[in-house]
Amino acid sequence: MDLEKLLTDRLAPAFSAVAGGPVDPVVRRSQRADFQSDAALALARRLGRPPRAIAEEVLARAELDDLCAAAEVSGPGFINLTVADGTLAGLVSALAVDPRLGVPVTAEPETVVVDYSAPNVAKEMHVGHLRSTVIGDAAARLLEWRGHRVVRANHLGDWGTPFGMLIEHLVDLGEAEATQELSMGDLDSFYKAARAKFDADEAFRERSRRRVVALQGGDERTLRLWRLLVEQSERYFLTVYDLLDVTLTDRDFRGESSYNDLLGPVVADLDRLGLLRESEGAACVFPQGSVGRDGEPLPLIVRKSDGGYGYPATDLAAVRHRTGELGATRLLYVVGLPQRRHFEMVYAAAAQAGWLVPPARAEHVAFGSILGPDGRMLRSRTGESVKLVRLLEEAVARATALTRERNPELTEAEAAEVGRAVGIGAVKYADLSNDRHRDYVLDWERMLSLDGNTAPYLQYAYSRIRSIFRRAGLAVPPEAAVSLAEPAERALAFELVGFGAVVTEVERSLEFHHLAGYLHRLATAFSAFYERCPVLRADEAVRDSRLVLADLTARVLRQGLHLLGIRTPERL
Ligand code: ARG
Repeated sequence: MDLEKLLTDRLAPAFSAVAGGPVDPVVRRSQRADFQSDAALALARRLGRPPRAIAEEVLARAELDDLCAAAEVSGPGFINLTVADGTLAGLVSALAVDPRLGVPVTAEPETVVVDYSAPNVAKEMHVGHLRSTVIGDAAARLLEWRGHRVVRANHLGDWGTPFGMLIEHLVDLGEAEATQELSMGDLDSFYKAARAKFDADEAFRERSRRRVVALQGGDERTLRLWRLLVEQSERYFLTVYDLLDVTLTDRDFRGESSYNDLLGPVVADLDRLGLLRESEGAACVFPQGSVGRDGEPLPLIVRKSDGGYGYPATDLAAVRHRTGELGATRLLYVVGLPQRRHFEMVYAAAAQAGWLVPPARAEHVAFGSILGPDGRMLRSRTGESVKLVRLLEEAVARATALTRERNPELTEAEAAEVGRAVGIGAVKYADLSNDRHRDYVLDWERMLSLDGNTAPYLQYAYSRIRSIFRRAGLAVPPEAAVSLAEPAERALAFELVGFGAVVTEVERSLEFHHLAGYLHRLATAFSAFYERCPVLRADEAVRDSRLVLADLTARVLRQGLHLLGIRTPERL
């Protein structure tokens, strides 16, 4: 299916024969021909021969006649390959009858844990959780589609000392009142009110401390109040997931507290393995390779001096559970860049303890920040971190207004539906189309624009193709022979047959901007094709062939956007 791979497989043996050892021909798409290999240039130095002579000899040896219309040496020693129209058309025809669009189910299925979203109980989700949720969900969708067993782990922050003050505040408010406040999603004011009392009132502080002890001791009444807080928060987070169109459900909450019973045994095992060291009253692991700026080894605190366990111990227990109990071989942690060190140390410690050994491995799927128009961390007008729901509501409101403006004929309900798909799609796409390692600026105008590398542009391209079929009352011709003659047809065909390679690359790198960039190139190629190649006015054979190209483009756009978690309305 994959042309680059097909050509590579043909050139590699020829190169290796000439070089007397394995050579990667590095076949790439090129402007000059369809594909190009520059490997002869690098090889020339090694073999002490002119690159052109090497390229000539490679071409003389390589079997290319059935794939290529032309294979030539050009310039200092490039190999230029022009794919035969028939070859390309054959690949497109095969794609047209492939429900998986050239993306086979993986031959090596794994159990993959995707740790993502992970907001904190009784605290508002902020824009950092947006990135984790959106990127993590795309990872879960894509890996699942490739045939892996995916375990979604929503590592909810549901344990720790703040719960003392939160429960005491709940008691002060009364259960009914507190439940009401939390279920309305007023998490921030609840948290802040608790915090304010904690800071101002010594008696409240003392109650909170006692409450933490009761919680850790398993006091029934305290646990019931704690559960109330957790349940209300979970219910609220689920409404956000619903609005955001992510696949997380109530079954995916695996809060920090769910590892509580494992913490003691984990620390005991570390001790037994001789990995624990005492440092200022705390029990620590000093993972190999973790050193601070001063070259001193860095401690991972697994039991604090007060006897409590914390975030690192929980993550160690989670690793052991995920590889040991769940049998996962790939652990993904979709968490912001600032936690990089934490994860490096957790992985190193887990490896030393024997809980993370090949083929099992862990990856920090890190991401940067979302910036405001001023290029600084996104803040609300009052200088606080932006509530995620507010951001999503604004996106939907803006997109719905634009939809009404552009399509006055839609009913209110239709405009609302489209506005939601476009607004939420725009937010997610803005995130996923940027290199996740970098910060990006939230720019409403740009992300909602119908031009450029945006969700609305791709959604529009999709709906436009559907409308071609709808308006003409046509179905996709079932057995049309694909023929490619126009350059714009060929360019589109090359993009279509490239879907599989992009998906498998992103499966590995989890860099979704490559998939986004691909979809944008595909939509752009379609647009150029549609401008230059009449479809409905062409002769029947040509028309049918072009309808196949159009339909395939729509299917790849829909599938690609679906993997990113973005809807494709039929009408926009
Ligand atoms: N709750 C944490 C936060 O809001 C993120 C947890 C990430 N996952 C993990 N296994 N540590 O920052």
